[in-house]
Amino acid sequence: MKLSEDFLSRIKDSNDIYDVISNYVPLKKTGTDYVCNCPFHSEKTPSCHIYMSTQSFYCFGCGAAGDVINFIRLYEHLGYVEAVRFLAQRAGIPMPDDGGEDGARIRARILEMNREAGKFYHKLLFSPQGKEGLDYLLGRGLTIHTIRLYGLGYAPNDWSLLRNHLNSLGFSDDEIVEASLGVKSQKNNNTYDFFRYRVMFPFFDTRGNIVGFSGRVIGGDDTRKYLNTKATPVYNKSTYLYSMNHAKNSGKSSLIMCEGNLDVISMFQAGFTNAAATCGTAITDSHARAIANQNFKEVVLAYDSDDAGKKATARAINILDKVGINTKILQIKGAKDPDEFIKKYGSDAFSLQIDKAVPAMEFELEKIKAESDITNPQGKADFLKRCVAFISTVHSPIDRAVYIADVSTYCDIGRATIEASVEQAIRRQNRSRENDMQQEILSGANRKDKVNPEAAKYPAEVEAERGIIAYLFHSPDFLKKITEKITPDDFPTEFNRRLFIELCILIEGGESTDLSVLGESHEPNEISAITKIIKDGNTLPYSIDRLNDYITNLLKFREKKSQKEIKDMSASELLAYANKMKEKK
Ligand code: UTP
Ligand code: MN
Repeated sequence: MKLSEDFLSRIKDSNDIYDVISNYVPLKKTGTDYVCNCPFHSEKTPSCHIYMSTQSFYCFGCGAAGDVINFIRLYEHLGYVEAVRFLAQRAGIPMPDDGGEDGARIRARILEMNREAGKFYHKLLFSPQGKEGLDYLLGRGLTIHTIRLYGLGYAPNDWSLLRNHLNSLGFSDDEIVEASLGVKSQKNNNTYDFFRYRVMFPFFDTRGNIVGFSGRVIGGDDTRKYLNTKATPVYNKSTYLYSMNHAKNSGKSSLIMCEGNLDVISMFQAGFTNAAATCGTAITDSHARAIANQNFKEVVLAYDSDDAGKKATARAINILDKVGINTKILQIKGAKDPDEFIKKYGSDAFSLQIDKAVPAMEFELEKIKAESDITNPQGKADFLKRCVAFISTVHSPIDRAVYIADVSTYCDIGRATIEASVEQAIRRQNRSRENDMQQEILSGANRKDKVNPEAAKYPAEVEAERGIIAYLFHSPDFLKKITEKITPDDFPTEFNRRLFIELCILIEGGESTDLSVLGESHEPNEISAITKIIKDGNTLPYSIDRLNDYITNLLKFREKKSQKEIKDMSASELLAYANKMKEKK
C-alpha cells in the first residue's frame, strides 16, 4: 500500500515523538531534548537521545535511530504499514484503506470473488466432476460434516472453469488476477485459473470472510504439493492463521499450532478445536501478536517430527516469548505429523501427548540432558557448563531458580555453586554486550557496518557518498548541481548508490524525502543508518566547498576505476578503447 506524503505527515504531527516514546521508557529532560536508557540494547547510562525539533531519536550506543514510525517498527516489531496503522489508531486517524476509498472497494470486490469461488469449488466437490476430490478427502479420513464445516472444495483439471464463472458474475480478468484466482499467460495475455486439479481449502478470517485458498494437488504433473493464494490486498501470509475462526471460539486459553491445514482439520475432527497453522511460512512476529490478541496465553507447538519441524520449533519459541506467550512442545513420536499420529493412535493418545507437552525451557534442558553423559567427571562438567549457559538466557529469576534446582538435583552439585556460575555468566554477558557497544562506538561507523558491508572497503569514498546524500536531504534543490557532475555509478558502495538513486527519483518527482516516506522501501535498521547519515551531515555547515570536495573525491575514484579497467584490458580490448577515445576527440 502506498501511503501519501500528506497522510504520513498527519500521522507524525499527531504522534509527538516524546508522547509515544515516553509510553515505553522513562525520559529525562536535557535542555530542550530528552534522553533515556535505550530500549533496544541493555545499558546502565542513557545513550538514546530524543530530539524534539526534528522529532527523531538516535542511540549513540547501538545506532538505532529514526522517526516515530521507525521507533514503533523496532519496538513493536511491526512492518512499515502496520506501524503506521498502529500510530493512526493511537491518534484516531482512519487509514486510507479503512475509509470509503479505492482500497476498500478493491478489497470488497476480492472478498466477493473469493466467496463466489469458495461456493463454486464447494459445489463442484459434491458434483460428479468432483468425485476424485471427494474420494481423496474421504480417503484422508475426513467426514462429510468436517468437509462442510471447513468449506472444502474441488478445482478440476481445467484452465478456465472458475474464470468463466467469475466473468459471468461480472468480474473482470484483471480483478480475477488481483485476487490471485487467475494468472495472466505470458504468451497470449489470456487469464487462466490459478488453482487446477486440487482439493481446495478456503482461508476464512476471524470475521468469516474468505481471504484466500490453499489447494492440495491430487493428480497431474504439478510438483507443488500445496499452492497458496499469493499476496493480495486481503491476504498476507505473514499474519494469517488457518482455522483461527474456529480456534478463537474453542473456549481454551491454549492454542495448538501445527504445520499443515490437514493437521488442523484432523485435530478439529478429533475434538481439538483449538488448533491453527501458518500457511506456507514459518511463524512471524505478526502471527504471534495475532495469537496474543485472541487472548491465548499458551501455545502448544505440534510441529512435524522432521528436522525442518525441529528448526521451526526453536524459532517459534523465541518469537512467542517476545509477546509473552508461554510455549510448550509436543514431540510427535511414531508419526510424522499430528494428522498421521491421530490416524495411527487415535485422539485419546493425542490428548495424552498434549498433557505431556513440555514447557519450552524444560524442553531445552531435557535436550541437554539427553545429549550429555554425566557418569564421568568431564561429561558432568560439560553438562553443567551447557546448563549454566542456557539458564543464564532465561529472563525470569523464578524460572531460573527452578531450573537451577532441577539441575542441582539431577547431577548432585550444590545449588549455590550453580547459582553463582549463572550469575557470573549473566554478568559476563552484560559486560561483553557493553564492551561490544563501546568497541563499536570507538571504532566508528565503518567497522562492522551491517547495512553497508562495503563501507570498510572504501573508507574515503564512503565519507563522500554519505556527505552527498546528507546534502540532498538538507538541500534537495542541489540535485542538479550534483548530477551534472556525477552519476550513481560513481558511488562505490551499493547501499549508498541505491539510496542516492532513490533520492534522485523522489526529488525529481517533486516528492518528499522524509524518513516516513523512505520507511516503505527500507528495513528499520536501514532507516537507522540513514538517520545517522543525516545526523552526521548536520555536524558541518552545508557549504558549497564541502559539497565540491565530496564530488571531487568521487571523481577521483572514477578515474582510479577506469585506470584499473584499462590495466585489466586485453590487447584487443585496449585497441578498441583507444579507437573509441580517438572518436570522442
Ligand atoms: P507438509 O508437506 O508437511 O504437508 O506441508 P502435510 O500437512 O503433511 O500435507 P499432506 O498430509 O501431505 O497433505 C505443511 C504445510 O506447508 C505448506 C502448506 O501450508 C502445508 O499445509 N506447504 C507445503 C506449501 O505451502 N507448499 C508445498 O508445496 C508444501
Ligand atoms: Mn500430513
